[in-house]
Amino acid sequence: MKALSGRTHLVPEPYGETPVWAYNDMVPGPEIRIRQGDRLRVEVENGLDEETTVHWHGVRTPNAMDGVPHLTQAPIAPGETFTYEFDAVDAGTFWYHPHLNSTVQVGRGLYGSLIIEEAEPVRVDRELTWILDDWRLTRNAAISDDFGSRHDLMHNGRIGNTVTINGRLPESIAVHAGERVRLRLINAANARIFGLDFAGLEPVLIALDGQPVTPHAPTDGLVTLGPAMRVDLILDMKDQAGNRVTVVDRFYQGLEYRLVELAYAETALRESAPDWPVELPANPLAEPDLRGAIRHEVTFNGGMMGQMVMSEMGGSMGDGSSGGMMGNMMNMMHGQGIWFINGKAATGHVMDPLLTLPRGRTCVLAMTNATAWHHPIHLHGHSFRVLSRNGQPTAHREWQDTVLMAPREKVEIAFVADNPGDWMFHCHILEHQAAGMMGVIRVSGKEERI
Ligand code: C2O
Ligand code: CU
Repeated sequence: MKALSGRTHLVPEPYGETPVWAYNDMVPGPEIRIRQGDRLRVEVENGLDEETTVHWHGVRTPNAMDGVPHLTQAPIAPGETFTYEFDAVDAGTFWYHPHLNSTVQVGRGLYGSLIIEEAEPVRVDRELTWILDDWRLTRNAAISDDFGSRHDLMHNGRIGNTVTINGRLPESIAVHAGERVRLRLINAANARIFGLDFAGLEPVLIALDGQPVTPHAPTDGLVTLGPAMRVDLILDMKDQAGNRVTVVDRFYQGLEYRLVELAYAETALRESAPDWPVELPANPLAEPDLRGAIRHEVTFNGGMMGQMVMSEMGGSMGDGSSGGMMGNMMNMMHGQGIWFINGKAATGHVMDPLLTLPRGRTCVLAMTNATAWHHPIHLHGHSFRVLSRNGQPTAHREWQDTVLMAPREKVEIAFVADNPGDWMFHCHILEHQAAGMMGVIRVSGKEERI
């Protein structure tokens, strides 16, 4: 697989092609599809003019294969190659993307899906993958180069003006009445959150972030995906042959738009929806033992409009380790140090761990979003159960690797720290990550790094 710059038709004629950065000259990059238990081996060649790495989002890889520059590997220099190789322990919908200068590299088109198939997948007529992305295009259909603008860093990230499915402005998708589809949704946007309304289709969620969940309808009728999140849906095409159904994104109030249309063929596939079972087999995840758990509080601060940035900065001086007020001021002026985890703003991928967890122990993170913004919080190397939201137990104790926290929300997660190494823990709004919202969680018991 090669990362390089290229051009693609994101938007149709009369617009021209958009210069992008892409894997193998495709946006999205090539779909990687293997069976659970298989070993994946990918040689990544860097044809860009800058360093890169590849991170296998949500996949429980050994630490050295996690793709975090300077922390788990040396960055891949221009012209160089790095080989990633690991066993696919979990089945599910995953994706890959660079973990270096991510706002720009992911924002310009470097990402692709990694589908790990179950030995016995649920029965469907057809499987579809929709990688959703959001681009900020100029009038000439070029990607606006205002990456990392202060406004984007301090507010809700780089929200664009053009939403694509699999790298194209979606037209209509042909379906058949009576057909059952497994739809794998992946949010590859830097910052946009999606809240999809499938009209009358009554989607059933069967997996979140690749991990099976008790099949259920979306809580408020919307299939919500923060950046980096995945949802697997079972969709039964219940309408009459010849009908058209519009999928609408309603996440941002007042900014609803039609995402794509499902166009029913004139002939039906079958009379009514099939009654095949939809439950997926569980993945081999260690079950958290809550009685023996280590508990840590994690607070996210910063950004505009919450408490002011300056008072957050005051709060971060207490331990004297973050360089004091002047250091923070300098960081902030350089677009870093706007967002904080437990009072610290990251300035790169290498830092003292926020937490060190003994290998094999259950850890509960009691997280508080003390900001006025949404944050999709991602932990590398592990999947966690979402135990509660604002003190209320969750209905399905979902396994996730990225959990979307609403403004002021409190979320408790639990996981067994069974994968040794230094793991990134960050907001997946890439502008928030770049502006400090990132930490390292160390699972001890790792071999010495040199
Ligand atoms: Cu999808 Cu730290 O990454
Ligand atoms: Cu964030």
